[in-house]
Formats: sequence, structure tokens, C-alpha cells
Amino acid sequence: MNVTFDRHRRLRRTSGIRSMVRETHVRPEDFIYPIFVMDGNDIKNPVASMPGVYQWSLDRVDAEVAEAVEKGIETIILFGVPAEKDAVGSSAYDTEGIVQRATRQIRAAHPHLTIIADTCLCQFTDHGHCGVVKDGEILNDESLDLLVQTAVSQAEAGADIIAPSNMMDGFTAAIRQGLDEAGYKNIPIMSYAVKYASAFYGPFRDAAHSSPQSGDRKTYQMDPANRREAFREAASDVEEGADFLIVKPALSYLDIIRDIRNREDVPIVAYNVSGEYSMIKAAAQNGWIDEKAVVLEKLTSMKRAGADLILTYYAKDAADWLKES
Ligand code: PBG
Repeated sequence: MNVTFDRHRRLRRTSGIRSMVRETHVRPEDFIYPIFVMDGNDIKNPVASMPGVYQWSLDRVDAEVAEAVEKGIETIILFGVPAEKDAVGSSAYDTEGIVQRATRQIRAAHPHLTIIADTCLCQFTDHGHCGVVKDGEILNDESLDLLVQTAVSQAEAGADIIAPSNMMDGFTAAIRQGLDEAGYKNIPIMSYAVKYASAFYGPFRDAAHSSPQSGDRKTYQMDPANRREAFREAASDVEEGADFLIVKPALSYLDIIRDIRNREDVPIVAYNVSGEYSMIKAAAQNGWIDEKAVVLEKLTSMKRAGADLILTYYAKDAADWLKES
């Protein structure tokens, strides 16, 4: 045989050498752990379509937060499941709303935990849309005022970061201005800038009771077929003052994460959404895949694609698995 070729396998020969040349690392500090907080008492409701995920009332949530912190999670994001809903989502911006109360309670117990508040209306509106609805249309500018009120009330309650997810145009500019005027110049905005109208959100809507009661979200969330549109969304948000950009979902959109990484310099968050979690859980529960290996590979791929941070329901498990390996 007289052929010349490169010997790539030299750098794969031992686990020590593989570790030396590993290009991407996943750490528990990279994770943002979502917690569903619910009005009521003595609630730890399993979410049927998301095994291992629960809705928590405030009298029981402390144990869940403490467990996450103990595993090395440094950042959580709160999703509220309110008892009362109305047409304008009043409980989203109520000082005594579920997210505001949860933020104060968790802040008191964990002064150094970074608490992110998801800022949206869909869990709080009776129609389940992320903005104000009139004659079947989701109104943009009218929704911005309510989002600003929500963001300010969350900052007042002690949220460290505001994460607006409703996909109205101008939400970052409006919330930045609202926070600044209310004296919260130093509270960053983590914008769900690139959010697709994805079928992978189904299990979340079970957990958050936030399905639209009519229609869908396609007039405000992005078409999964579009790539250049993501660049325009990301550029607008950076221009409007976003401190972080979220790309959502993650797994089917790794190309978009890479594109945005190449174009923008702010930290990027991959949102590993509910449907992505549930698919792996289901396959794992059937014994069809190795859950730990698949999850760590998936999380690694998100970082390799260019994400700095990963919002994932697997955060607690993955933190444990990282310690083992
Ligand atoms: C909307 C919102 C969604 C998710 C979180 N907040 C999407 C939607 O219902 O359209 C989905 C998150 C997930 O699937 O994990 N404010």
C-alpha cells in the first residue's frame, strides 16, 4: 500500500488525549433552570407530558430551588401559573402576582442565586395569547405597555434579569425605556429575540396552562423556514438594548444559533424547549436510548453551535451527570 493520509486517530487514542483536545465544555454554570410556580397551597403537580417536571406552590417550592442550588445551578427562570386570568393578563403585572411573590420569597432564601423573570402575558390572559387581542388580532403597541408594567413589577420584586418572550415588535426598546425610567438601569434584558412558532412547545403549554384558546402564534412568532429573518430580529434587539439573545427552540435550530453567534457579540442562550425534553424522556423511559449520554451530547452540541448558556429542564440531572463523568 502506498498511499499518504493524515492520522486523525492519534488524537483519539486515549481518554487523556481526547480530554486534552476537547474543544467544547458544558458546565453547570451554563445552565438556566426553569421552575413553574403556581398559585395555591401544597402543590407539587407532575406535568404529565414532562416527566420529572412539576408545578410548585410557593409553600413547597423552596425544596426544589434548594436542590437545584445544591447541584450547582446558579440561575433559574420563573414561569408563573396564576389562579386568575383575564383579557389583559392583569396578574402578570400585579405586585402580588405569583411571579412577583415567588421572586421575593426565593430571593430572601438565596441572595446569590440569579433569578430571571420570564416576561409574557400568555399564561395570564384568558385567551392564551401573548398580547392584547382585538377582533382576533394580536395588537402590537397596546401589548407593549402591559409588558413594560410586567417587567417593572418583576424588577421591583427583585428579579436580576428580565426575559421578555412575547415577540411583539419593539418589546426590548419599550422594556429598556420602562426599566430605566423606573430606576432599573442596571437590570439586563435577556431577549427571546429569535423565537420560532414551533410545535415543540406543546408540553410547556400543558405545564404553564398557556395554550392559545383560538388560532395560533404565527403572526408573532417566526416561521421555522426562515433564516435571514432571524438576523433581522437579532439585530433589532441588539440595537434596542438586549444584553442577551435567546434562540428558541435549540435542537432543530443549531444552524441559527451558529449564524447569530457569527453575527452578534452579546451572550447567546439556547432554549432547549419542552418538546425536546419530552422526546428524550419518552425514548429513555422506553429503554430505547441512553438518557445521560444523549442529553450530554445534545447540550454539548448547543454550546458547540455557539451558545454561551442553555436554558434546559435537564439542568439538575445534567449537573449531576457532569459531576460523575
Ligand atoms: C410563550 C412561551 C413559550 C414557551 C415559553 N414561553 C412558547 C409558546 O407557548 O408559544 C415554550 C417553552 C418550552 O416549550 O419549553 N411566552
